[in-house]
Amino acid sequence: MDSIKRRNFLKNAALGSVATVIATSTQAKMVTPSEVEGPFYPITPQKDKDADLTKVDGKDGVAKGEIIVISGQVFDQHGNVVEDVTIDLWQANSFGRYHHPHDNSDAPIDENFQSWAILQSGKQGRFKFKTVMPGAYPLGASQQRTPHIHVKVGKLGYESLLTQMYFPNHPLNEKDGLFKRKSKEEQKMMTAKKLSKDGNQYRFNFVIERV
Ligand SMILES: [Fe+2]
Repeated sequence: MDSIKRRNFLKNAALGSVATVIATSTQAKMVTPSEVEGPFYPITPQKDKDADLTKVDGKDGVAKGEIIVISGQVFDQHGNVVEDVTIDLWQANSFGRYHHPHDNSDAPIDENFQSWAILQSGKQGRFKFKTVMPGAYPLGASQQRTPHIHVKVGKLGYESLLTQMYFPNHPLNEKDGLFKRKSKEEQKMMTAKKLSKDGNQYRFNFVIERV
């Protein structure tokens, strides 16, 4: 390659790499992966569906288990925050039992655990809720579901999202049939981040798609 050709080649290569960077930065972000609803979406009417699942209105006790706080934001696929999104979540109690008439496991029911919440994302698409670490539960004779929280996320004008939220470094994650079939990138998006090593605070962001 003579020196002029070489200079042009380098110039084009440099322009090419700039173009690649621009294309990447405007690319749509990955939407939070979806997951099956499972059999235990609440069917029993419940008045108290607020952001503190560790207490039930009218009862003095506190839910059993490790209390955790999960906060985050809702974004669209272009990175814009989305406010007034409905976040409908339900989970097993710390013993791995759902408050659902069809869950006939032998694990105890915790009357002080709220088990179901419906929240709205507020300013900057932010949300926060307090709950207990869901227990693992058996699935058939030989499998276990790793701890997870079921979530439906919806707002008019956006694709509705049905997903499950997982917890980092849980030994059952890698054995969980649903978690295992997701790609590493999907698993990462579906796993809450622990905000401090010893604390009980987690962060989880949702990315939903504008229709
Ligand atoms: Fe479940």
